[in-house]
Order: sequence, then C-alpha cells, then structure tokens
Amino acid sequence: MKIYLVGGAVRDELLGRPVQEKDWVVVGATPEQMLKRGFRKVGKDFPVFLHPETGEEYALARTERKVGRGYTGFQFDTSPAVSLEEDLIRRDLTINAIAKKPDGEFFDPYHGRADIENKWLRHVSPAFVEDPVRVLRVARFAARFFESGFRVAPETNALMTEMVHSGELDALVPERVWKEWEKSLTEKNPEKFFEVLSDCTALPQLFPTIVLSGKGVQALQRAVSLTSDPCIRLAVLLHDLTVLDIQELSDRYRLPGDYRELALLVAKYVGQYNTIDQEKNVIALFRDLDAFRREERMRQFVLACRIITQNDEAARTVETYFLAAKSVDVKKIAAVFKGKEIGEQLDRARQEAIEKIRKG
Ligand code: CTP
Repeated sequence: MKIYLVGGAVRDELLGRPVQEKDWVVVGATPEQMLKRGFRKVGKDFPVFLHPETGEEYALARTERKVGRGYTGFQFDTSPAVSLEEDLIRRDLTINAIAKKPDGEFFDPYHGRADIENKWLRHVSPAFVEDPVRVLRVARFAARFFESGFRVAPETNALMTEMVHSGELDALVPERVWKEWEKSLTEKNPEKFFEVLSDCTALPQLFPTIVLSGKGVQALQRAVSLTSDPCIRLAVLLHDLTVLDIQELSDRYRLPGDYRELALLVAKYVGQYNTIDQEKNVIALFRDLDAFRREERMRQFVLACRIITQNDEAARTVETYFLAAKSVDVKKIAAVFKGKEIGEQLDRARQEAIEKIRKG
C-alpha cells in the first residue's frame, strides 16, 4: 500500500499558503487492510477512513463513472488495482490533482505545478463535467486566487459554458450552491465569483438578479477592505435588489436567517441611514432593526450601509443616537407606566434623548 498527500494541501503548500486540511489517498489497499491498521471507516458512497491518531481523511484511490443525473448517479471502483493516475484524472483542476509522496517527491501527471507557476485554473480532463458543483468551485477559486494572478483557462471556460448550455447546472442542489457562494464571500475578490459565472453564461441561470456592472458588485469590492464578515458582504452585494428579489434568492438557495435578515434590513433602510440626521422617527428605525436587543446586528447594519453609501458621518451619527437612546432608563419607565404605555413612553423618551443631541 502506498499513501500520498493530495488535493488542497499540496496545492496550498506549493502556493506558500497555510494548509487547512490534509487529505490522503491510499493506493493498492483494501478496506480490510485499512481497518486492520486501526483506521475508522466513514463515508456512505465510497470508503473513506479516518486516521486513528490524526483524524485526517484517507480515501482509497478510486475511479468514478457517471451513470445518471444528479448526485446519486455515480459508480465507484475502489479496488486495489486503481492507480494514482486514475484517481487524479477524475479531479476538478490540475492544481488540485497533484500528489506528494511521504519522501517529498511529487507525482504530477497533469502538470498542476506548471499551472501553479503560470497561474491557470484548468480542468484535468473531460470528467470535469460530471460534477456541476465544479463550475462554482472554479468561480470560488478565482475569487480566492485572483490576487495571486490566477485566471480561468480558456478551454475550461469553454467547457463550463458547454455544461451550462447542456443543462448540467439543473442538477445543482441549493445547499451546494450556497456553500460555494458563502465561501466565495470570504475570499479576497468575491466579485470574481460572479465574473467567472458570467463568462461561462451561468450567471443569468443561477443569479438572474445580480448584475455584474451593478452597484451591488461594485460595493462588494469596497467591502473587502472594511470587513471579513460574509454576512455584511452579502448584504452589501444585494442592497440594490428589491425586497422581493432578495426574498426569492434567499428562498431559492435556502440562505440562513442571519444572512437573509441583514440583507433585507440593509436594502430596506439604507436610504434612511444616509439621511439619518434629518430622519424624523429614528426610533422607528431602531425598532425595525430590533437594535436594542440585537446590538451586534445593528452594528453589522451600520457597517454595511457605510460601505454602500460611503457616508462615514452617518455611521457616527447613528452610533451617537443609539447610545443616547440606549441610555434611557427602562426600569424607571416600567415602574410608572403599564402595558402598552411602557413601549410608547420608552419610544418618546428615547426620541427626546436623540433630539437633545441634535440641538446639542
Ligand atoms: N474535488 C474534485 N471535485 C469536487 C470536489 C473536490 O475534484 N467537486 C477534489 C479536488 O482534488 C480537491 C479535493 O477533492 O482538491 C478535496 O476537495 P475539498 O476539500 O472540497 O477542496 P480543496 O481543494 O481542499 O479546497 P478548499 O481549500 O476550498 O478546501
């Protein structure tokens, strides 16, 4: 049995980036031999083993053959006769298809190191088309590696375009799209995700309401230097969509509540943020933001609006108003008033506190 380091760990090491997760491939072994060595078996579709000490993943070298649509339509062969070359050829990009022996020697039949050197995101073989998630992965890698000069190879863009035209993307499930989209939001150039999808004509199908040259994508570029929070970045990206479009997109890809809520609040109230110093009913805005109970989200809202409008003064004003309103003693009011009146009096006292600052 021979064991090799593969995938992202080898790629990142060659790029001089921190290695997040080590994946290993085992050639010439049976599941029984793995179990005998103390590995634990996991994985439903094909055997993956966890190392008894490190917990890292060891997969038997395998070939994959697509026999149907979607994620269930694969046939795997994990027999000990499967070679490393065969295992690597079914992978997505050449930069992810380099193996490294324990003695440090590379096994690189698809020239991944040359593509790292020349900064190409290039598919390994026609088997690329067997998994539509790869279209999104390429877009995500472009978002991550654009700053290092990587771009999508023309033949890979052509292949991805073919996949779009032949309807391959119909098999994508919402969770997988969101997973890639969310990861892309944490990268250095999240706008490249959409650019690559646009280049292969997938954008209108996957994100019909996102316009590449639109205000959202432009603002997203500005967001990167100001926040690493993907929730804020998403709200910035979607701010010029209608509430209905944001809801539709969130439903389609089953976005988590915190992402969806912040995006909706920002789209609805970014105008009020921008004119906060003239806003008559600041308290109503704070109430809609649920600002007194959800301070952290209120701050996410403010930062998203600041990025969008580039109005820094408004951020300071909101903060000052918020602190003034927050300083109102709730207990004192609750001791004097009853029921509905408490809320009304509290709002009044808070608005007064803000007016005081305005007259200041
Ligand atoms: N892989 C693939 N096709 C996919 C998913 C994964 O070919 N749809 C292969 C690639 O060789 C990849 C490896 O499996 O390098 C491990 O996948 P994963 O851990 O998902 O990604 P990484 O490449 O390690 O990237 P990341 O840094 O984003 O984790």
